[in-house]
Amino acid sequence: MTVHAKIDIRAQLRDPALLTEAALIDGQWHSRPDMAVHAPATGTVMGHMPDCTATETQAAITAAQTALPAWKAKTNAERADLLMAWYQLMLDHADDLALILTTEQGKPLSEARGEIQYGASFVRWFAEEARRINGHIIPSPVAGKKIFAMKEAVGVCAIITPWNFPNAMITRKVAPGLAAGCTMVIKPSDFTPYSALALGVLAERAGIPKGVINILTGRPEVIGEALTQSPVVRKLSFTGSTRVGALLAEQCAPTLKKMSLELGGNAPFVVFDDADLAAAVDGAMVSKFRNGGQTCVCANRILVQSGIHDAFVAALAEKVDALRVGPGTGENVDIGPMINEAAIEKINRHVEDALAHGARKATKPRELDRQYADPVVLTGATKDMQLASEETFGPVAPIFQFDTEEEALEIANGTPFGLAAYFYTTDMGRAFRFGEALEAGLVALNTGALSHAEAPFGGVKSSGLGREGAQEGIEEYLETKAFHFGGLG
Ligand code: SIN
Repeated sequence: MTVHAKIDIRAQLRDPALLTEAALIDGQWHSRPDMAVHAPATGTVMGHMPDCTATETQAAITAAQTALPAWKAKTNAERADLLMAWYQLMLDHADDLALILTTEQGKPLSEARGEIQYGASFVRWFAEEARRINGHIIPSPVAGKKIFAMKEAVGVCAIITPWNFPNAMITRKVAPGLAAGCTMVIKPSDFTPYSALALGVLAERAGIPKGVINILTGRPEVIGEALTQSPVVRKLSFTGSTRVGALLAEQCAPTLKKMSLELGGNAPFVVFDDADLAAAVDGAMVSKFRNGGQTCVCANRILVQSGIHDAFVAALAEKVDALRVGPGTGENVDIGPMINEAAIEKINRHVEDALAHGARKATKPRELDRQYADPVVLTGATKDMQLASEETFGPVAPIFQFDTEEEALEIANGTPFGLAAYFYTTDMGRAFRFGEALEAGLVALNTGALSHAEAPFGGVKSSGLGREGAQEGIEEYLETKAFHFGGLG
């Protein structure tokens, strides 16, 4: 691998001001080179960021608290217009946002462009939803009285986001919050702060008032503790691991915050004998290899019925062998570098453990630099392998062979997680029977894609609490106030 001293992409940006190395607190940008940010493709420094302190976190919370009354008092249409202006700026700067994202996160530019559109789609969706925050009137059991159920903003919200979707996981939380009338303190992943900060620059340009959006960079434990301890923060939304989600829930318990948690998954991808083979293989490629396998909804266990098993494995292995691995900014690259060494170590550990337990590689070996993971198909996967119970978060496709529908259901549901589940069948009876029996918040029949602003997203069991996107997404940022009007005669 070629090692460069520093990567500076400013010269490649049409608007270099979008790449800022400063945290945003109460409309002021605070710049300090405390912590380095590395580009996964080269391992070299892309820039720096402040390591925000607990005091700075408190200042951001106070700014959000101060900005809250005026933001809440705007009409829903005014907030919607500001969100639409932000959305338009994201589209206008999509190429720059994608290049920043690819450089700090690693995914191919084509996928980064897709993520910018996906991220912007939440802003548009919730700008539209802002106008539909309706309450309702309840018939009173008592004469001379009326009861209104009114919707109100929750208040100051803390948003903690992951590195795998540095843009879209922010907009999916912030847009419904802003539409509802909440103000925000955002803590992006310390691996990918620049996509978040670029969104902050554009929010400012869109005219979103100071203090409504605050963005803190630095160590998650310091900022997370200050956010969770604050009684001013009334809601926390987090996307990340189940372990950290549970820890945050514990930290939020004394101040009883409303919480949305989008946590780990272990998605089954089930292919029945009667499936459309080509469609199932295409779906597996989309579900398994999007973002190099680094999504919570990636197929983690591919279950294939015996009658279609060999044909499926052959077709999948051929497609995986054709995947091009390289730097995200490279021509025609399908899979970029993994986020960091720990990620690669886990992927390699899962593959080695599976091979030691009898799995076989169905794909050809390849030589890759150490920041990349080899995309592989493994046959003969069993439930005693690490990859059966842990999320691999990488381009590894283990195939579990099964015979009956009952067996497939038992394997599919046999995990504490319940985020996404996919299955392929052409039998409509089975489609309903199996789909309803799957323990997952997201079920996909005959498709490998389930991420849209219009559809509710979230898990059951250890995969989390609450829903994002869709009509449900805005409810997470609203409280219902029952307003009783008496003495009406
Ligand atoms: C995630 O991996 O957490 C989100 C994936 C998606 O929105 O599709």
